[in-house]
Amino acid sequence: MAIATLQSEDDFAGWRDAARRLVAARVPPHDVVWQVGDGATDLFGGEAIVGGEAIVGGEAPPLRVPRPFIDLAGAALLHTEPARFGMLYTMLTRLIEQPRLIGDRADPQLRRLEAMARQVRRDIHKMRAFLRFRETVDDDGVPRFVAWFTPEHHIVRANAAFFVDRFAAMRWSILTPALSLHWDGAIVREGPGAVRGDAPGGDPAEEVWKTYYASIFNPARLKVGAMLKEMPRKYWHAMPETALVGELIAGARARETGMIAKARTAPGGNVDAAWAALRGEAAHCTRCDLYRDATQTVFGEGPLDAQMVFVGEQPGDQEDLAGRPFVGPAGQMFDRAMAAAKIDRAGVYVTNAVKHFKFEQRGKRRIHAKPNAGEIDACRWWIEQERALIRPRITVALGATAARSLLGKAVTISAVRGRPIALADESEAWVTVHPSYLLRIPDRDEAQAEFDRFVEDLKAAAARVA
Ligand code: URA
Repeated sequence: MAIATLQSEDDFAGWRDAARRLVAARVPPHDVVWQVGDGATDLFGGEAIVGGEAIVGGEAPPLRVPRPFIDLAGAALLHTEPARFGMLYTMLTRLIEQPRLIGDRADPQLRRLEAMARQVRRDIHKMRAFLRFRETVDDDGVPRFVAWFTPEHHIVRANAAFFVDRFAAMRWSILTPALSLHWDGAIVREGPGAVRGDAPGGDPAEEVWKTYYASIFNPARLKVGAMLKEMPRKYWHAMPETALVGELIAGARARETGMIAKARTAPGGNVDAAWAALRGEAAHCTRCDLYRDATQTVFGEGPLDAQMVFVGEQPGDQEDLAGRPFVGPAGQMFDRAMAAAKIDRAGVYVTNAVKHFKFEQRGKRRIHAKPNAGEIDACRWWIEQERALIRPRITVALGATAARSLLGKAVTISAVRGRPIALADESEAWVTVHPSYLLRIPDRDEAQAEFDRFVEDLKAAAARVA
C-alpha cells in the first residue's frame, strides 16, 4: 500500500508529482491511498509518497500523457468528489497503456471525469461572472473592494490569477468559507476562511465600481516580479489559466483591453468602443510569431449584437491582404452555404480562431500552413474577448482548429458534429466542417453531398436562435 499525501484539496502539482512516482514504482491504483494535509500516513502501514518531496526514487520522472488529459486532470482535480485523486490516477495508468482512450467518449470513467471537469469550469466561470465587490476603506484611507463567494468546488486559488489580472491596480479581498484572498496591488495573500457576515452587505457599489474599473486600470503598475515571488508556483499548475502569469508579463496592454471587454456587462458599457479598442489592440498582437510574416491582423467583423458567431481557422492569402475574414475562395463557399441555409451573413459575426495568416513561401506563392496548438492557444485570448463582448447564443466552429479554440481541446469533427455543445458561459457551440474542406473534394457528387450536409449543419445551428 502506498500513501500519497497532497498539501491541499487543489494541489494539482502535488498530485502530478505523486502520480509520476507511483507510475515509476508500478504501484497499481488500488494500492494507493490518497490523502490531503498532515493525515496519519502510517494508518495503512504504507510507504509515504509526498507530493513535491523526493521520498520515492529521487526526481519524479516525467510521463508522456495526452495533452487533453492534463487539462482534464487540472480541472477535475478541483472537484469536491473525494475519490477524484484515485480516479485520475486510474485514468492515467489506463492512458499510459492505451493513449487513444482519451478520445473514447463512451468510456464511463472518462465521461465521469469530463463531467466533473465541466462542473468545475462552470464554477470557475460563475465566480468570475457573479462576484460582486463592495467598496470599503482600509486603515490608510485607500479603498478596498471586498466580495463574498461560496464556490461549489476547490476553485478559489485557481481563480486568483484571473482577478489579479482584471483588477490589478485596486486593492481587493475575496472571502470564501474555506479561504480568503487579499490583493494589495503587488501580491496575493491567503487568509483563513470567512463567513458571509465578514463581507460588507448592501448593494454592490456598481457606479463606483464601474467608474473605478473604467478609469484606473493601469497595467504598468502591476508589480509582476513581486507577484511571481509571492504566488506559489505550485498553484500555477492547477490553474486552468496556466498561461496567465506569463501573459501578465507579456501582455499587460492586452490585459487593459480585457478590462474594456469586460465592461460590456456593466450597465451603460460602450460595446462599440470596447470592440474598437480590442481590434486596435489585436492589430499589434505579438502573442505568437505569426505576426512576423503576415501582412496584418485579420480581426472579426459583423454586428456586435449578433446571436451567432462563426469561427474559421485563420485568414487565407486573400484575407491577409484584404484585412477581412472569409473573402477568398473559402469565403465564397461559406457565402454560398449561408445563402442556401438562409442565414444572412450581414446579421452574424464572422471571425477566426487565429488572426494571422500562417503560410509557407513557395516561389511567389504563399501556401496555407495549419496553425499549431500553441498558436491556437495564444490567439484564443482574442476570440474569448470577442465572444465576451458579443455574447452570442450560438458559436459555430468551422473545422477542427476553430473547434479546438472554442472547446479548449482537440476534437474529431465527426464525433461532435451537428449537435449543441454547452459552453461554460451557457451559450452553445456547434461544430461543423470548414468550407475549404468542401473545395478539396474532387468527386462532384460527393462534393455536393458534403455541401448539403454542411448546409444542414448551419440550418440546425441557426434554428436554435430562430
Ligand atoms: N479560412 C478561414 O478559416 N478563415 C478565413 O477567413 C479564410 C479562410
